[in-house]
Amino acid sequence: MIVCVCNAKNCRTVREVLTQSPHIDTPAAAHRAMGSTPQCGRCLPTIAGMISDVRNENAVVTALAAAD
Ligand code: FES
Repeated sequence: MIVCVCNAKNCRTVREVLTQSPHIDTPAAAHRAMGSTPQCGRCLPTIAGMISDVRNENAVVTALAAAD
């Protein structure tokens, strides 16, 4: 699925960047990491949601690792 039409970024690309760079905490930072710049801004809420999803997944992984 295309996340950012202006920069031709799909959900796989965005997710890979977020997974590889857990310090990314804003959609603008995600764009910088992908070498792109927000233009119309319509993708920013979606990317913000993806950042939250990846953070939650990382928290679960950390909790499960600590429980072992
Ligand atoms: S859809 Fe991402 S900047 Fe326009």
